[in-house]
Amino acid sequence: MLPSVSTTHPTTPVPVSSAAAPSPPGIVDRLRAAGCVFAEDEAALLVAEAGDDPAALDTLVTRREAGLPLEHVLGWAEFHGLRVVVRPGVFVPRRRTEFLVRQALALAPRAAVVVDLCCGSGAVGAALLAALPDVELHAADLDARAVRCARANLGPAGRVYRGDLYQPLPARLRGRVDVLVANAPYVPSAAVPLLPAEARSHEPLTALDGGSDGLAVLRRVIADAPDWLAPGGSLLVETGRRQRAEVAATMAAHGLTPRVAICDDWEATVLTGRRPTG
Ligand SMILES: C[S@@+](CC[C@H](N)C(=O)[O-])C[C@H]1O[C@@H](n2cnc3c(N)ncnc32)[C@H](O)[C@@H]1O
Repeated sequence: MLPSVSTTHPTTPVPVSSAAAPSPPGIVDRLRAAGCVFAEDEAALLVAEAGDDPAALDTLVTRREAGLPLEHVLGWAEFHGLRVVVRPGVFVPRRRTEFLVRQALALAPRAAVVVDLCCGSGAVGAALLAALPDVELHAADLDARAVRCARANLGPAGRVYRGDLYQPLPARLRGRVDVLVANAPYVPSAAVPLLPAEARSHEPLTALDGGSDGLAVLRRVIADAPDWLAPGGSLLVETGRRQRAEVAATMAAHGLTPRVAICDDWEATVLTGRRPTG
C-alpha cells in the first residue's frame, strides 16, 4: 500500500479585472464562433492586452481565432499568482502544476538548493523562487526556446542551462540538491493524438510525449536523482494518476522513499521520492 494523501484545492480562474473595459461589439462573438468556451473572459483579457489600440486587438483576436493557445496570444500565463512569460513554441504551464509547487513548498522551508528539471517556461522554478527568495535555484531544459523563456521568467536570481536532464547542471550540485522538481513529459505516445488541438499544434512534441507508457523521461529523472539529492532531499514529479504505482515503484527501486499526493479538483498527481538521510 502506497503512503498517500488526497486533497482538494479551490480552482482559481484566471483573474479578470472587475474594472476591465467592455469588449467592443463583435469580439466575444468572434471568439465564440472560433470555439472559445470562455469567450467573455478571453475577450476581456485580449482587450486589456491591446490597450486602446483597435488594430492590435484585431491582431490578437485573429491569432486566437486561428487556434493559438490564449497564453501564446497574450504572451503570458497566470501561474501560482505570477504572470509567467510564455513564448510561441513553449509549453504553456498548466494550473494543475501549481499542486506540484505547493507540495514542493511544503518540503522546502529550509531548502538551500532547488533544481527545476524539464523547466519549460520556468514557471515552477519562478513560483518557488518567488516564495523562497533566498534559495539557489537552477533550471534546465532541452529546448532552446524554453531556456530563453525560463531565463526571462527567472531573471538574474536563477541559473538556466540547456541540455538533456542533469547533463548541463554544474557538477558541484551533486549530492547537494534539497528539492528537485521535474514536470517532465508523461503522456503515453498513443494518447498524444487525443490531446486538444491547441497542445498538439502549438506545443513541442518533446514537451508532451513520454514514450510508450509515458514514463520514459521520468524513469531517467528518477534513476539519476539519488546522485544529485542531498541526504534527506526530495524529488517531486507530476504524473498521471494511473501512473502513480509504477512511478512509486521506480522511486523505491532507486532507494527513494515514495509518497503520493493527489488533488482531486485539479486532477493533479504528485509523487515525492525522499532520499534517506542515513
Ligand atoms: C510538460 S513540459 C513542462 C514544462 C514546465 N516544467 C512546466 O510545468 O510548465 C516538459 C518539458 O520537458 C522538456 N524536456 C523533455 N525532454 C527533456 C530532456 N530529456 N531533458 C531536458 N528537458 C526535457 C521539454 O522541452 C518541456 O519543456
